[in-house]
Amino acid sequence: MPLLHPALLVAGTVPRPAPYLPAECLSDEPERLGLTALRRLASTLAAAPEVWRPVIRHHADRRWYTRLLLSASVEVWLIGWYPGQQTEVHDHGGALGALAVADGSVEEDQYDRRWRLTRVREHRGGATVGFGAAHIHRVANRGLTPATTIHAYSPPELPLRYGPSAGDATATAGIIGSQPTALIDPSRAETVAAGAAAR
Ligand SMILES: [Fe+2]
Repeated sequence: MPLLHPALLVAGTVPRPAPYLPAECLSDEPERLGLTALRRLASTLAAAPEVWRPVIRHHADRRWYTRLLLSASVEVWLIGWYPGQQTEVHDHGGALGALAVADGSVEEDQYDRRWRLTRVREHRGGATVGFGAAHIHRVANRGLTPATTIHAYSPPELPLRYGPSAGDATATAGIIGSQPTALIDPSRAETVAAGAAAR
């Protein structure tokens, strides 16, 4: 059963997933979404400020994130980048992914398979990029204003792997998921209504 952040639910007598969430994103089957579908999902959500603007936070002392969607086929994260914040160098455990910039801009340092820096790209508001299963990068806000991004990964919850500079430590996407997030089973309408009203 897919779990959705209340921001992705349309209120009503029986709350339901927002209409721009395609059925393949809500699947209970462990199907892998392709890059086109991931890019479309991330860019559609980034272009819907009514979804992310009431939710997003930017904290100077820590990068802020929350999961918007988790199904058997995909997970979607909303991330707030205060100026100066960045990730470690990492891959995505073999998942395909997409990053859409909803607000502000971020830089992406790209690395080869030997974890050597090969390219730096700037992604500005409105940009969406996809990345393959072997993609290695670091994302950073090196600007002077906060940035907001939306990330989609398929399959979901694969362990991230970090570069040599971070030691051999490994972590799972679930570590990011340790951020308390009120994801909702949309079939539980009463719970959904209560959760949505609390926001
Ligand atoms: Fe990443």
